[in-house]
This record gives sequence, C-alpha cells and structure tokens, in this order.
Amino acid sequence: MARGRRIYNYHCYFCHGYDGDARTLASTYLDPPPRAFTALNPEEVSRARFLRSVAHGRPGTAMMGFAGILSEQEIAAVVDFVLEYFVRRKLPNTRYHIPENGWPNHQRYRAAFPFALGEIPLDTPDVELTEAQRRGKALFMESCITCHDRARVRDEGVHWETRPVSFPRGGYSHRLRGRGTDTVSAATPYSKHDRPPQVADLTAQEKLGEQLYQENCAFCHAADGSGRNWIGRFLEPHPRDLTDPRFAARMDRLKLVRAIRDGVSGSAMPAWKQVLGDAEIEAVAAYVERVFFRVSESRDEVE
Ligand code: HEC
Ligand code: HEC
Ligand code: HEC
Repeated sequence: MARGRRIYNYHCYFCHGYDGDARTLASTYLDPPPRAFTALNPEEVSRARFLRSVAHGRPGTAMMGFAGILSEQEIAAVVDFVLEYFVRRKLPNTRYHIPENGWPNHQRYRAAFPFALGEIPLDTPDVELTEAQRRGKALFMESCITCHDRARVRDEGVHWETRPVSFPRGGYSHRLRGRGTDTVSAATPYSKHDRPPQVADLTAQEKLGEQLYQENCAFCHAADGSGRNWIGRFLEPHPRDLTDPRFAARMDRLKLVRAIRDGVSGSAMPAWKQVLGDAEIEAVAAYVERVFFRVSESRDEVE
C-alpha cells in the first residue's frame, strides 16, 4: 500500500486528486473528466480492467498508458492502492495543506477555495461576484496563485498559432514594403505580400485611397490586401483577406465604409473614424473595391 500510495501521489494525484475524488483543476478542463474513484461502487469495479487501463490507457481520453513508465508490479501496487483506499474504504490520503507542512488552519482561507479549485473562473468580472467572493479572489491573488497558477479562466485570451511562423530577418522593415530589403529577408513568404498591386488608370479618389491604404492599413492587411504579411499572420483573428471573393461577395460600398469607420470589436481592426475624415474613408473604400475586389478574380491561390 505504501508503495502504491507513493506512485499515486507522484503520477496520478494531479488528475484524480489526492483523495481519489477527482476534485482537481484538471477535472475542470478534461473531457471526459478523470475518474472519481470514491464515487465508484466496489461491486461494479473490475481489478483486471483497472490494470489494463493503467497499463495501456483509455483511448481518446487524457488517461494515458503507464506501461512504459511503471513496471507491472508498480501498476499492480497503484491499482490495489486505488481499489483499497478510494473505491472500497473511501479513506483520505495525503493532504498538502496540513499543519506539518506549515498550514495550521487552512480552513480560514476557505473564501479562496473556489478559485483554487477552479469552481469560479479567475477572470469573472468583480460585479458578478459577491462581497465574500471578491475577498476570496483578492486573497487568492495574493497568497495562493504562486502555487495554484491562475486556476481556471473563462477566456484563454489570444492564442498563438500552433504553426511556427518565421521571424523577419536582418534588414526587414514593413515600411520598405519589400523594396530595398536584403535578399534573405526578401525570401520570406511574407515579403511578396508587401508589394502594392500596380493598377493603371486609378481615379484621383482611388489614388488618394491607395496612399491612405498603404500608409494605414497595409501594416495589418498587407500591401496586396491578402493579410498574409508578417504582422497579419500573427494577429488573432487574422486581418480580413480583402481579396477573398467570398468577402467581396458579401460587401457593398456602404458596408465597407461602415466596417472601416466603426472597426470590428473584439479584433485588432480599429475604428478609423477617429483618424480619417469621411472623404478619406470613402477613398479607401473605393480603392479596396477597385483594386482588391477585382484582383481577387485573377489571384493565384498559392500562399
Ligand atoms: C492527465 C490526467 C490523468 C492522469 C495523470 C491519470 N489519469 Fe487515470 N484517468 C484520467 C481520465 C480522464 C480517466 C477517464 C477515462 C474514461 O472516461 O474512460 C481516467 C480513468 C482512470 C481509471 C478508470 C479506467 C477504467 O477502466 O474505467 C483508472 C483505474 C485510472 N484512471 C487510474 C490512474 C492511475 C493509477 C494513474 C497514475 C498512475 C492515473 N490514472 C493517472 C486521467 C488521468
Ligand atoms: C506552497 C504552495 C501552495 C500554496 C501557496 C497554496 N497551495 Fe493549495 N495546494 C497546494 C498543493 C501542492 C495542493 C495539493 C495538490 C492538488 O490538490 O492539486 C493544494 C491543494 C489545495 C486545495 C485542494 C485540497 C484541499 O486541501 O482542500 C485547496 C482548496 C487549496 N489548495 C487552497 C489553497 C488556498 C486557498 C491557498 C491560498 C491561501 C493555497 N491553497 C495556497 C499547494 C499550495
Ligand atoms: C491593427 C491591424 C489592422 C489595421 C491597421 C487595419 N485593420 Fe482592417 N481588420 C483587422 C482585423 C484583425 C480584421 C478582422 C476582424 C474580423 O473579422 O474578425 C479586419 C477587418 C477588416 C475589414 C472587414 C470587416 C468585416 O466586416 O468583415 C475591412 C473592410 C477592413 N479591415 C479594412 C481596413 C482598412 C481599409 C484599414 C485601413 C484604413 C484597416 N482595415 C486597417 C486589422 C486591421
């Protein structure tokens, strides 16, 4: 049993909890959740199946196989510990917050427990919390978060691309828009999107739009409107690909002007009404419509 407990407290507590009740932070985000051993009916549990599950894991769940990590005897020891302590006798196991570890009266911090256990997401706005919960959160932030990390949050925030993206190399500058950069930088897949399309016979309004677009919008949307420039690939959500025919199909001048004027909340797209006048916004929209919506008809799909 002592051997089984040692293995359990090292490899298993993280998901199944020290007391085998699976009241862990991991339980709040795993689907299916780790098994709560204390909730199982001993009559319905099979030792052979538990041995198999611990050795080979449960496919499609966070329960991995331990065959490569633990010996057969160790697997038997930990399974017997789980069966004896949690499934049959529902005994408490090791606790961390005990006087011997320097926590003489852990209960007095109970206001912060829901945050430590992930029951209340840490980013719940204060207005949605009761007075006691607000105190608990403050206590959690001050004294518990160092070990309990950030507990659970509703909004994970911006996540980075799982696909690695290259870093711009020496001499790269988005202001140079691909011109005058060194040959290595110019070889990144991003630089070809930093060249403004050459369109003959732009009207005076479209020319103004071109200048405004290339100065204000190309930074995110790329000079060619594709959003496939370096900065654009980093933003989440990505800047709209203005040359996407599906985008052009659902837009008209009025909607375009509105999107530019008012921005898109929850994204990096600013509201340009603070920066550009009505005539300037009209000009940018005219340029986008003329150059990008047209270009999309003949654009090659190679990234
Ligand atoms: C990363 C989280 C995680 C860890 C670590 C983990 N488990 Fe699990 N475990 C799970 C999940 C999730 C399930 C539920 C699988 C399912 O629903 O089929 C589970 C289920 C089980 C079951 C029930 C399997 C069955 O056949 O019904 C046993 C027994 C078990 N775990 C034992 C262990 C032991 C022993 C360890 C340590 C050696 C361990 N687990 C470590 C997540 C974990
Ligand atoms: C020095 C590290 C450390 C600090 C600081 C700490 N904890 Fe813990 N806490 C742990 C460990 C380790 C566990 C056991 C592992 C687990 O359950 O995930 C634990 C478990 C818990 C549990 C679940 C099990 C139980 O004993 O009830 C609660 C609730 C908890 N902590 C609350 C708190 C609160 C509230 C604070 C701040 C006042 C705090 N902890 C500060 C390390 C710490
Ligand atoms: C700081 C980065 C950034 C800049 C600068 C920027 N945009 Fe955007 N833009 C975005 C992002 C991100 C989106 C995507 C929002 C979404 O749909 O989730 C977007 C979306 C758009 C859309 C589509 C709106 C819709 O309804 O789908 C248009 C049109 C647009 N931008 C035009 C412009 C124009 C014109 C400028 C310059 C005046 C500009 N943007 C400057 C980031 C930017």
